[in-house]
Amino acid sequence: MTARHSKYEILKSPTKKLVSGLLKGCSMLLKESIGILTETLQFMELFRVGRLDFVPRADDIFLVTYPRSGTTWMQMILYQLASRGNMDFTHICQVAPWFERVISFNVMNTEDIEAVPSPRIFKSHLSYRWIPKGQCKYIYVMRNGKDVAVSFFHFYKSHLGFKGDFSEFFDLFMRGKVQFGSWFEHVAGWREHVGNPNIMFLEYENLIQDLEGCLRRIIQFCGFDVSSEQFPEIMEKCSFAFMKKHESKFDHITATIWEKGYKQNAFLRKGEIGSAKTYLNDRQEKLFEQKSEKYIGKFGANTAIRSSAPLNP
Ligand code: A3P
Repeated sequence: MTARHSKYEILKSPTKKLVSGLLKGCSMLLKESIGILTETLQFMELFRVGRLDFVPRADDIFLVTYPRSGTTWMQMILYQLASRGNMDFTHICQVAPWFERVISFNVMNTEDIEAVPSPRIFKSHLSYRWIPKGQCKYIYVMRNGKDVAVSFFHFYKSHLGFKGDFSEFFDLFMRGKVQFGSWFEHVAGWREHVGNPNIMFLEYENLIQDLEGCLRRIIQFCGFDVSSEQFPEIMEKCSFAFMKKHESKFDHITATIWEKGYKQNAFLRKGEIGSAKTYLNDRQEKLFEQKSEKYIGKFGANTAIRSSAPLNP
């Protein structure tokens, strides 16, 4: 039997089929488990939120969406209208925090949330069932679900390391096995409340087609005070082109950096000799010298490591 023949035989063998079937089964099971884990984590988040002693203010605004429906755009719109054009933030989430996330990840505690000046703007992906209820305003933004799936697919690839193709993602999306669960259930859960005067429903497509009209409706609904002179500048700042130009203020990656308290532009610090003099106290200095003597002393009294003396004088 030639090597080629034996390989062919193996490929065709029932064992190969069995192993391949088992692997496929395991991979499906793993995917299911990831879905269950995602749901469990979500539940834990929601559980924390439920326990939080959060009392909505009458002028709070909850901007709620299923992801990739224009959330960030609406965060920007609301903040621009509320602040009348202020761009003094590193990330939009600093001025319009992601409610359940800042709480679940301890980015903000109850006092921090309390300290946010009115009108507070909160982004949220919570279902109607879990959103804090009160006399505040809610804006729910919807987008064509198929466009949401495509946008979410690209987000999964660019930000979450998803390696599959669109049809794999679409299958997960249709089964609600993606972050934030089923688009269908999310939208249906909120749409049941059409007619509630505290909830404004907006469509992403309408925002694209008639941004000015939508902004005027939002101003009226939220009671913002925007002069006609300020309006064109706000419109400009809410355009896709403007936001694209300042993308780091909106990118999820920058939000994560901010949430973790990481400092940007701190990696290349000073590039100078001798910073240690101002940092080490006598005890630390002595400790270092003793250990240095023990390990490196045998190579010469003043090694480059200890005193910055040249290795080849
Ligand atoms: P695409 O991926 O289709 O481009 P979310 O903030 O809910 O995650 O939604 C992201 C989607 O909103 C992205 O869609 C993004 O391009 C779009 N978006 C963000 N700002 C926008 C703007 N100013 N105008 C139009 N679309 C915007």
